[in-house]
Amino acid sequence: MKQSQHLLSVSDLTKAEVENLFETAKMLEPILDRPLKRVPAFRRKTVVLAFFEPSTRTRVSFETAAKTLGANTTIITTEGSSVVKGETFVDTIQTLQSMDPDLLVIRHKSAGAALLAAKYCQCPVINAGDGTHEHPTQALTDLLTLYKALGGPFKKLKIGIAGDILHSRVARSNILLLKMFGAEIHLIGPASLIPIEFKAPEIHIHYSMGAALPELDVLMMLRIQQERLQENFFPSLSEYSEFYGLNMRRLKKAKPEILIMHPGPVNVGVEMTEDVMTHKNCLIEHQVRNGVLVRMALLYRMLSCKK
Ligand code: CP
Repeated sequence: MKQSQHLLSVSDLTKAEVENLFETAKMLEPILDRPLKRVPAFRRKTVVLAFFEPSTRTRVSFETAAKTLGANTTIITTEGSSVVKGETFVDTIQTLQSMDPDLLVIRHKSAGAALLAAKYCQCPVINAGDGTHEHPTQALTDLLTLYKALGGPFKKLKIGIAGDILHSRVARSNILLLKMFGAEIHLIGPASLIPIEFKAPEIHIHYSMGAALPELDVLMMLRIQQERLQENFFPSLSEYSEFYGLNMRRLKKAKPEILIMHPGPVNVGVEMTEDVMTHKNCLIEHQVRNGVLVRMALLYRMLSCKK
């Protein structure tokens, strides 16, 4: 990255840098269609994947991306590390730094953990999700998926983000990135799950899915994060699903060409039903594939920049 050697937030990127990243993704994509999905670009480089919180998509896509580009990967998780013996987060990061990695990818349940890690690292750090703060590589994945589905840049697209905005790092990163690219953002959910920092006229707020849906070109559904819901933000999951979940009956009220997205993992039957997940307008599988591609492009640029 030009402005910052790290990617901790979408705000570390300019619009031009995101567009350059997507050009790199386009250049690298044919590698994923080869029988042998490997190039020796970064044979001597080591990428450390420090996942202090569970992950399937982000972790596997970073590992696949690094290996596809020929880099070595080392994975560390809370359960398999000396964190369980009482080693502090900073000591763990300093220990990893002493092994001289070329890049550190970090996921942590605490907001700000990636920034703290970057203070103790000489190598670039990528935030792979820090608490309720940000998940920049998911937002980049979602934007690339939209670009590919729409055939290129969009103008005045109405994008709804529905559900648990309050606890969603994906929503925060997507709001920053989609605003940068000129989308009109509509947040949909119960008042208890929409933070007061987001308000009209900059961002459209809807407390009713039924009222918002017919206007939208894209609808991003968010996971109900039961692990972060310590209070009662809504009476029950079934009531949440009744008012804010996406099912075929509700989908009929949307534009026929609406694009449906979800960063995963999905609580099937809560945010959306299985038939919506397999609907032709649903881009979830594309999001997963593009996740590998975006992370390949990021590693390519960041490992190339490193002296
Ligand atoms: N979207 C996302 O971050 O999924 P994982 O938690 O499986 O990585």
